[in-house]
Amino acid sequence: SFPIVVLISGSGSNLQALIDQSLQGQLNINICAVISNKADAYGLERAKAAGIPTHTLNHKSFDSREAFDAELQKLIDQYQPKLVVLAGFMRILTETFAQHYEGRMLNIHPSLLPKYKGLNTHQRAIDANEKEHGVSVHFVSPELDAGAVILQASTDITKEDTAESLASRIHAMEHIIYPLAVKWFSEDRLTFHDGKAFLDKNTLSESGVL
Ligand code: GAR
Repeated sequence: SFPIVVLISGSGSNLQALIDQSLQGQLNINICAVISNKADAYGLERAKAAGIPTHTLNHKSFDSREAFDAELQKLIDQYQPKLVVLAGFMRILTETFAQHYEGRMLNIHPSLLPKYKGLNTHQRAIDANEKEHGVSVHFVSPELDAGAVILQASTDITKEDTAESLASRIHAMEHIIYPLAVKWFSEDRLTFHDGKAFLDKNTLSESGVL
């Protein structure tokens, strides 16, 4: 089945969604390895529980971003993945690294891109009195959170919402749309050309019901 490597920095609930769907047979992928830049990321426990090889590459033990990314690339490429999945991987990537995986690396970002790139997206959306907020899956490009968007899910912001309540609703949506994008890519229904994301016709009509 389709080899992928997942990069994490934290809880790994999106990783868990991928593990669960592949165990249930909804997703025909092989998670070859999970790599974290933080030794205490809970997602590493999730991977171990699923029998997936794990690695920690602490960015603090490297002199530069370039050196860290070069080592990370070497580690990833040992597994020859067809797709690299960033699932809460909280590192800014060098241009060299992003270009190496151009068209074969996905990220999930908790905002309706191009709005709210970067951090603290939920609070920023509330502070700006946005009526809605959401999450985007996109191909990674060298510029932060600026690659081609593949699919988004949104939710209304109510007066009662806090960053925490929004984050929790958005997490639930993430666990639906991220495995879906990975599935489409693994089935060659989602492709990347000239900096843009393309879905085949059948997939487009399927995504319309989300
Ligand atoms: C997710 O909400 C994801 O959208 C976000 O980190 C969380 C990871 O959750 N990613 C970013 O903010 C990327 N800039 P998880 O570890 O439970 O999957």
